[in-house]
Formats: sequence, structure tokens, C-alpha cells
Amino acid sequence: MPKNILAFGASNSSKSINKRLAKWASSQIENVEVNLIDLNDFEMAIYSMDREENSGIPDKAKRFRELINSSDGLLISFAEHNGGFSTAFKNVFDWASRLGKDLWDNKPTMLMATSPGKRGGMSVLNSAVSRFNFMGAGEIISFSLPLFNNNFNDQNGIINQELLSLFNDQCRAFEKLLSAKS
Ligand SMILES: Cc1cc2nc3c(=O)[nH]c(=O)nc-3n(C[C@H](O)[C@H](O)[C@H](O)COP(=O)(O)O)c2cc1C
Repeated sequence: MPKNILAFGASNSSKSINKRLAKWASSQIENVEVNLIDLNDFEMAIYSMDREENSGIPDKAKRFRELINSSDGLLISFAEHNGGFSTAFKNVFDWASRLGKDLWDNKPTMLMATSPGKRGGMSVLNSAVSRFNFMGAGEIISFSLPLFNNNFNDQNGIINQELLSLFNDQCRAFEKLLSAKS
């Protein structure tokens, strides 16, 4: 039986480069079925303790968590906003985290980031690796793609051969983690 992975770009932009990277990257993982979701389908009022106390946790947060729990692995590419998560992702993350500990449910996880700049979203990627480790992810593979507009196109994916080779190594490592998971 093929494994199934939940994949998304952690951005709410309709032109998101991280959505484009997540879509292509998930197509490169062998022997998996991909559930590619759009964070815009999980838009909720900004998390507040008052809202939670008065109205409870929105169904969209519950649905997001169910999608994590029913997947075999996760593949996420993060937009970097001021060195951190996009507000769109942080809000889903905050709401979903209120449903109990170990949000990431011990799933093998491939975390990526890209940006138009040279750092390729390294700040948000480092935060993501650390937060995911702290909140119950399984083993984590990470990859950053700098200078997105120079190094990627939708037909061919990553076109810089050195970066492609690094990316392929990370894909094979992720596949191993997925196949080792019962
Ligand atoms: C509010 C805001 C803050 C940003 N902060 C950063 C940043 O700290 N580092 C960076 O490399 N790019 C930053 N950018 C540029 C983003 O990397 C760029 O917009 C990228 O396309 C976002 O990813 P997305 O297209 O997947 O949404 C920022 C963009 C916005 C709109």
C-alpha cells in the first residue's frame, strides 16, 4: 500500500512560491499518494484565548488536525515573513495546537522553505525544525531553496544541479523514513 503524505505551502498567497515548491517537491517523492491542501481553506479568526473560551475551537482546526493524524508523513514549505512563520500558518498552528499535545503526531516530516533572497527562508526553516521537534514530529528532513526565481521553474522544478542533488538526497531520506513507518 502506498503511504500518503499531507503537503502544503505555509502561505496564503495565491502566487505563493512555497506552494509551488511544495507541489513539485511532493511529486518527487516515490510511492506516495499526496494530499495537497491550501491553507486558505483553513482560514479562521485570529486565535485568542477569549475566542477559545467563548466559542471553542473552530471545526477547521479540528479538520486540519484530522488530516495530520490520518497521514503517514508531512511535507511543508514555509514562507518567511519577518524571519518567522506567515500569519496564515501561525494561526492554523495556534488553533490546532489547542486540541492536545504532540500536534505533529510522530509523523516523518520534510520541512522546506524558499524565498526570492539568498537565505532561502533559513530563519523560518530553523524555527520550524525546532518547533516541530518540540511538538511531537517524527524524524525531520529539511531543505532550503535560495533565490527561488533563479533556481526553480514549474516544468522542471529545481534547475540548479547542485541544489537538485541535495534535494534528491533529502527526498530519498524522507522516503526511507516513510517506508520504515508501520
Ligand atoms: C510581510 C512580509 C515579510 C517578509 N519577510 C521576509 C523575511 O524576513 N525574509 C525573507 O527572506 N523574505 C521575506 N519576505 C519576502 C518573502 O520571502 C516573499 O514574499 C515570498 O514570496 C513569500 O513566500 P510565498 O510566496 O510562499 O508566500 C517577506 C514578505 C512579506 C510580505
